[in-house]
Amino acid sequence: MAEFTLPKNSKITKGRTFKSDAPKGQVKSFKIYRYDPDSGANPRYDTFEVDTAECGPMVLDALIKIKNEIDPTLTFRRSCREGICGSCSMNMAGRNGLACTTAIEDIKGEVRITPLPHMDVIKDLVPDFTHFYAQYASIQPWLKTATPAPSGKERLQSPDDRDKLNGLYECILCACCSTSCPSYWWNGDRFLGPAILLQAYRWLADSRDEMTGERLDQLEDPFRLYRCHTIMNCANVCPKGLNPAKAIAETKKLIAERAA
Ligand code: SF4
Ligand code: F3S
Ligand code: FES
Repeated sequence: MAEFTLPKNSKITKGRTFKSDAPKGQVKSFKIYRYDPDSGANPRYDTFEVDTAECGPMVLDALIKIKNEIDPTLTFRRSCREGICGSCSMNMAGRNGLACTTAIEDIKGEVRITPLPHMDVIKDLVPDFTHFYAQYASIQPWLKTATPAPSGKERLQSPDDRDKLNGLYECILCACCSTSCPSYWWNGDRFLGPAILLQAYRWLADSRDEMTGERLDQLEDPFRLYRCHTIMNCANVCPKGLNPAKAIAETKKLIAERAA
């Protein structure tokens, strides 16, 4: 399971509490990690009581309500509010997920919200994705070919070959999986992590791509690929229901097959 782990720059100090006048039965408390590098202060948890009768059903609704009505300095990422953009990934009640698809009523008691575990924090719930995106760029996530496309035509793919991309193309790069993986916590500088390895396999599995050998050469490394020890948090936590562990296993299989 994706156990709760504090972000890297954490030495928590006492935070503030914002009470609600709403009837007790409809009040929900949100204990939110706050960090402002410009203030020079240590991180803290602020607690916000929200009237759920006046709030949408998702954790993101509560965050937006808190920002609009209580504390406009609360900082978080969001865009699509329907599980498509991957911006609102964070840790809620000890589990990574998307705030826009996580129902408030599914979390019992106080809702503790922190940034994704083991990431550097830019501000409040906003982690620094610079390294994650650099790792993504390193796998060259685009169609690579050696032969010219058929004259005047697209590179076609059979329905069966297209089906091989199911379970891969849906990844929204939210990083919920990578930041729930202990191997990534410990070796994230060199281990690519489940999200990037799933993306890498997406191109290995594409019948139109002609650089399979070069891609496998890049991945065949004790750290980049083989730091996956089948811990399975990644598959357990993915908000899109994907299975990065399976993609990693398929990649290891391709490497073993070509060595045979
Ligand atoms: Fe997010 Fe799932 Fe993609 Fe991992 S595999 S980045 S959890 S969508
Ligand atoms: Fe990590 Fe998933 Fe492997 S949690 S160790 S990438 S199976
Ligand atoms: Fe886009 Fe949540 S706001 S995935």
